[in-house]
Amino acid sequence: MKYIIGNWKMNMSAGEIVEFTRRVKKYKIPRKRNVQFGFAVPYVYILGMAKIQDYVWIGAQNVSEHDNGAFTGEVSASMLGDVGLDFCIVGHSERRTLFNETDEQVNEKIKKLQQYDVMPLLCIGETEEQYEAGSTKEVLLKQITKALDGIDKTKDIIVAYEPVWAIGTGKTASIETIRETAGFIRAELRKIFGHNDTPILYGGSVNPSNSDAILHNAEVDGALIGGASLDADKFVQIASSLF
Ligand code: PGA
Repeated sequence: MKYIIGNWKMNMSAGEIVEFTRRVKKYKIPRKRNVQFGFAVPYVYILGMAKIQDYVWIGAQNVSEHDNGAFTGEVSASMLGDVGLDFCIVGHSERRTLFNETDEQVNEKIKKLQQYDVMPLLCIGETEEQYEAGSTKEVLLKQITKALDGIDKTKDIIVAYEPVWAIGTGKTASIETIRETAGFIRAELRKIFGHNDTPILYGGSVNPSNSDAILHNAEVDGALIGGASLDADKFVQIASSLF
């Protein structure tokens, strides 16, 4: 199975979503059993978003680590489960950097999502400084170990490797780096879950000109796409790497 997941971040209007949906439908993406599409949508549009096709996953971009109560502005995992969301991004580098989200919060969020059967899509990645210092693996291992501590190992999660320096910058990790790093993550996840089935996505400036090489990499199970997922034509071009 390959995964093509768009992360719309804080973008799109209701009108733009309608137009996006119309354009994607026009392409008549063939329904392939081995490709799963999904979109992480801003909260306000989740309920109103007509599914592009019934086989497209709809997810959120963040969740509270609390159950419910006096947390103004927050949305709980039980709410996401209540409206039938398929997945929720956790630990995106923008949340870690701009909102000071810690590994401990990421861990609590994953546990809450599991409780309500919303699949966590865990983002991990090193900063440019850490990359240049050669500490990528050490950083990723710490993020993985802390995020997955005490979670339910019988439930599925997805992990996205997103080098922070590649997000929204137009820079991508080399295919060799992606392959080696995804292989490292896979080996660590195997130790934790006791199997090899956790999908590993790559994210960071994926676009139509690099998606072929990224998606045909044996260690990579798909892509988490930010900027290019806002444009229906680009999104479809990326997806068509798989058809
Ligand atoms: P980008 O974002 O594709 O715009 O680099 C990826 C992400 O933040 O998930």
